[in-house]
Amino acid sequence: MAIPQLKDKQVLITGAASGIGRAAALAFARQGAHIIASDLRLEPLQSLQQEVQALGVNCLLQAVDVSDEAAMAAFAAWVHEQVGAPDVLFNNAGIAYLGKFLDSGLEQWQRVLNVNLMGVVHGCYHFIPLMLAAGGPRQVVNVSSTASYAPSPSMASYAASKFAVAGFCDVLRMELAGTRIGVTDVCPGVINTAITASGAAPSMQGEQLQRLQAYYRKEGCLPEVVANDVVQAVITGKTLVLTGPYSRLLYHLKRLSRRLLFKITLGTAAKVGYL
Ligand SMILES: NC(=O)c1ccc[n+]([C@@H]2O[C@H](COP(=O)([O-])OP(=O)(O)OC[C@H]3O[C@@H](n4cnc5c(N)ncnc54)[C@H](O)[C@@H]3O)[C@@H](O)[C@H]2O)c1
Repeated sequence: MAIPQLKDKQVLITGAASGIGRAAALAFARQGAHIIASDLRLEPLQSLQQEVQALGVNCLLQAVDVSDEAAMAAFAAWVHEQVGAPDVLFNNAGIAYLGKFLDSGLEQWQRVLNVNLMGVVHGCYHFIPLMLAAGGPRQVVNVSSTASYAPSPSMASYAASKFAVAGFCDVLRMELAGTRIGVTDVCPGVINTAITASGAAPSMQGEQLQRLQAYYRKEGCLPEVVANDVVQAVITGKTLVLTGPYSRLLYHLKRLSRRLLFKITLGTAAKVGYL
C-alpha cells in the first residue's frame, strides 16, 4: 500500500547493523521516518543509532535473532508497547552459504532456512496482526534475491530459501489484498556488502572464495542503491523491486529463454568463482 509521506512513520528493520539494512535505516530516516533497528547484537547498531538520530528522528535498538520465534514474538510485544505497530516492516536479515551441494554438510541448510526463510515468516507472523489492528496504509517489505529466480551454482540452500521467500510474498500479497497492507518483494542483484563472508563450505575456502569476493567488490553496487529503491517502493506501493546489477536483466532473460539464462549463468559462474 503506497505510503506517500514517510515523515514520522515507524520503520522496523531487521539485520540493520550492516549492508542493505543499515543503508535502509539511513535512507528512511532521511525521509523523516523513525527507525526501530534490530540485529543479532546491539554494539554494531550503536553507531547507526547516532547517525539516525543526527537526522532528527528517533532510533530504537533491539538485539533479536530473527530465527528465534520466541524472541521475535517478544520483540513484537516490545515494539507495540514502545511505538505501536510499525508502518513499514522490513524483513531484511539474511545470511549466505557458498559451496556445492554435495560438498556441504546438511546442517547449514537448517541454518540458512531458519534465518532467511523463517526469519521473514516470524517477522510477518508476529507484526502483521499488529499492523492490521492499527489500520493502514502499511507495508511489509521482504528481501528475497535475484537468486529467487536466477541462482548460481554453489548457492543451493540460499537459493531455496529465497525462492521460498518470493513464493511466500506472493501468497501473503493475495491474502492481504482486501486490507490496507501491501507486500513488497525486494530482489537485489550483486551488492557489495559483508554477505559473502557469512558462510562457505570447506571446499570453497581459499582462492575460489577470494575470487568470488573480489567479483562482489568489483561488480557489486553500494547497498545505498537498494535502500533508495526500497524507500521509493514504499512511497509508491510497488510490489516487486528489481535492484542492483543483473537483477532486472536476469529477470527478463529468464522469461525470454531459460536455456540461454542457464548457459550464461554457468559460463559466468566458472569465471567468477561459483564453480
Ligand atoms: N549482498 C547481496 O549481493 C545480496 C543480494 C541479494 C539479496 N541479499 C539479501 O539482502 C539481505 C541483507 O544482506 P546484506 O547484503 O546487507 O548482508 P550483510 O551481511 O551486510 O547484512 C546482513 C545483516 O543481517 C544480520 N543477521 C544475520 N543473521 C541474523 C539473524 N539470525 N537475526 C538477526 N540479524 C541477522 C547480520 O548480523 C547483518 O548485520 C539478506 O537477506 C540477503 O540475503 C543480498
